Amino acid sequence: MKHSIIIAVSSLLLLSCSVPRESMKSLGDRVFTLADSQFKILDSKLDADRFPRTVENGRLLDAPISWWCSGFFPGSLAYTYAYTQDPEMLQLAVKNTQKLDSLFCGRYKTSHDVGFMTVCSYGKLYELGICDTIPAMLGLAADKLASRFSPVTGTTRSWDFGKWKWPVIIDNMMNLELLMEYGTPEQQKMAMSHADRTIENHFRGDFTTWHVVDYSRKDGSVRRKQTHQGLNDDSAWARGQAWALYGYTMMSREASKKGYPEAAERYLSQARSVALMLLDRLPSDGIPAWDFDAPEPALRDASAAAVMASAFVELSGLLPERGLSRRCLKMARTQISTLASSLYLAEPGEIGGFLLKHSVGNMPGGGEVDVPLTYADYYFLEAVYRYNRI
Ligand code: GLY
Repeated sequence: MKHSIIIAVSSLLLLSCSVPRESMKSLGDRVFTLADSQFKILDSKLDADRFPRTVENGRLLDAPISWWCSGFFPGSLAYTYAYTQDPEMLQLAVKNTQKLDSLFCGRYKTSHDVGFMTVCSYGKLYELGICDTIPAMLGLAADKLASRFSPVTGTTRSWDFGKWKWPVIIDNMMNLELLMEYGTPEQQKMAMSHADRTIENHFRGDFTTWHVVDYSRKDGSVRRKQTHQGLNDDSAWARGQAWALYGYTMMSREASKKGYPEAAERYLSQARSVALMLLDRLPSDGIPAWDFDAPEPALRDASAAAVMASAFVELSGLLPERGLSRRCLKMARTQISTLASSLYLAEPGEIGGFLLKHSVGNMPGGGEVDVPLTYADYYFLEAVYRYNRI
């Protein structure tokens, strides 16, 4: 808890100082120069089939290809190359992405997170103009995700473990980008069905979201709504709210791009409502506690702030209302600036080659608490990159 008190006090001091505000161009140069040197350190510590997960007690914890976060390091390298144009980064981005090739094998047992794993790695190489043969591969990954869709529940299934019958977690909104961007028209309809069912069943009246909704696989009715990584079943787990904001913003963009204007409007309206809820509840430095309902002093979650910042930048460009659009962009800038301050950002050579300190993976499970996390770095870089391209 000590670090959250220090962070709160330091944030107030920062806000009250009259130092000139750093431009976003200068912040981008600073952050990506750091990423370029940190990621070379991190890459040098990795085996050929491993990916960075976190650092605990000064020790790098890595993870295999099958882990839900395996695509984030390759994607972070791709963003870094796109910004710095350092040829060594290009090599590292391609090498680390290719480590994931076995995800496309027929024998590879799929998971609901195949979207995170492939869109954030191969998808970025394509999107950033590094490699143009990606869409066919990602079509294969989309087939794998589509195999988890049930017309009875109207959703893709999340976890294969646990006591649930057909668990769907709010996080799963993120995987829909794979179906929308690289899938067939039928798979795009599955993605929109999942997003529509999630609007129906995951949200409370105040536009916070439950983490897990368990459906009956016999008739598609809702069996239970609860949390897994939040404070309690009725609380607003911060990263879950971030996935909701990002997920509906992304779905609005994708539905519009693929020719479904009514769906695009529905998803934009949902993202707008989630954004209003967040703008109301976020603290002045933009970094939420790990759960919005956690009693203070509570640990902050840099990863949730990074996901939100990236989504706020995109949403600001989709919203027709200038006032709200500006508020979203302002919040993104606040979040990015706080994350890029010494409270969160590593010094060169620090924290084993990661960028951001102070994320929370799974508080109730006691895993990855107040540590660097590979996805916090990824969404932070995406936010900085997106902001600098406005
Ligand atoms: N998708 C898993 C998490 O957000 O922790």
